[in-house]
Amino acid sequence: MAAGKGTRMKSATPKVLQPVLDRPIIDYVIKNILSVGISPENIGVLVGSGGEQVASHVNKAFPGVKILWQHNQLGTGHAVKCAREWWQSYENLIVLNGDLPMMTPESLKELISCCNQHDCTVITFNAANPGAYGRIIRENNHVSIIEFKDATLEQIKIREVNAGCYAFRVKALESVIDLITNHNAQKEYYLTDALALMNSQGFNTGAFTMPEEEMQGVNNQRELAEVSRVMRDKIINRWLNEGVRILDINSVYIGSEVILAPDVVIMPNVQIFGTSIINEGSYIGSGSILNNAVLGRNVKLTAYVFIENSELKDNAQAGPFCYIRDNSCLENNSFAGKFVELKNSHIGENSKVPHLSYMGDADLGSNVNIGAGSITCNYDGSKKNHTRVGDNCFIGSDTMLVAPVEVESNSATAAGSVITQRVPENALGVGRARQINIENWVLRRNLHKQTSTSQPEGDK
Ligand code: UD1
Ligand code: CA
Repeated sequence: MAAGKGTRMKSATPKVLQPVLDRPIIDYVIKNILSVGISPENIGVLVGSGGEQVASHVNKAFPGVKILWQHNQLGTGHAVKCAREWWQSYENLIVLNGDLPMMTPESLKELISCCNQHDCTVITFNAANPGAYGRIIRENNHVSIIEFKDATLEQIKIREVNAGCYAFRVKALESVIDLITNHNAQKEYYLTDALALMNSQGFNTGAFTMPEEEMQGVNNQRELAEVSRVMRDKIINRWLNEGVRILDINSVYIGSEVILAPDVVIMPNVQIFGTSIINEGSYIGSGSILNNAVLGRNVKLTAYVFIENSELKDNAQAGPFCYIRDNSCLENNSFAGKFVELKNSHIGENSKVPHLSYMGDADLGSNVNIGAGSITCNYDGSKKNHTRVGDNCFIGSDTMLVAPVEVESNSATAAGSVITQRVPENALGVGRARQINIENWVLRRNLHKQTSTSQPEGDK
């Protein structure tokens, strides 16, 4: 169920698209369902408020998952009813609130297995602060739920609450779904009323309890921040157990899909997100941000390196203050140093771009040295052009490589050159004005200064 307005978030973004670390809430929910072996065709996402946005995200991130519409948000009971055509052909139906990113596959499996025991099973938790959650009423072996706003003062004291996860036998659900009314404090059709209705018709209802941490829903920014913290701790603990060294666990953020190897070292204030993979012995210096980065073994990011959608192979080094993006690749033992930006560029083995450079759409061979301040002029105002530098080239400091251009293997450019034409193998490309020295120029200037400047008054 992901159709609700999420009013309490006070945000233009639909609640289920709000991010926990680097992924929307709904991704955790759907990934959890997929992880227990349910195929996409058997998963439906109910959308409504902000539905176009939610639907387009789900279609992209989880192809095959069915989008179901609830055009008016009249409550969770109404939501499930809107999807009836889809679920009525199944034997069992699991309904999950869309705002439960912390639920584990184990709990979901247990919920699914309950379909053999009860006509309806709900997951509950004992809340430290039961707040606005629906209260669980256990009576004569039956379970029912009373919503907070409809509860008596006595019922409000109950600490066992409804997590928003239900397993239904479809036959039982069908026989009560039309009987749910909106005669309650919120004038909503509550799915939670289905339990009392089932009890009165002789169906059986049950519940099992899970830890609160796992069942924490997201209803406001405070809860989103809390869930993000819990998720972060959980991921960090997992990697500490796998032999990753994290100096300051309170300042490091790792996304749920990142993969780290033993002996990776992570310094303070680092974020690693997306589908990043970091292999043995690599060192991630302070201030680094990695998104979909692949690092080989013993890669060193000294500090403040920002990598997006790019790869650094074994023993490569980068930083401090380096930006590597758009499918760039640093081959083994290569280096991108201080104030260097690499965009869609390939840096060959043992090659170095040590200082103050921009390499865009460039392909550097192996053993290349790029002098300080050298850049590719890859953009001509309308399109991006390619630069190629062959093996063993020495590019002098402050060379402008005006693309499209090629510097062939074993050649060099003179410092300060603007290279607009191919430099053939073994040649030196010189593209700069020749220096002339004007003899005694300084003396003549000083003489001119003395005769033309009047002395200030009183300074005789
Ligand atoms: C609901 C439960 C409450 C439970 C709590 C757990 C009901 C009536 N109450 O309350 O017992 O303790 O969850 O978090 O179900 N949604 C729709 N369509 C709607 C309304 C909601 O799809 O018309 C979706 C929302 O997007 C959300 C989920 O249903 O994912 C729950 O809605 P929410 O408004 O958060 O319900 P609560 O008031 O928290
Ligand atoms: Ca909720």
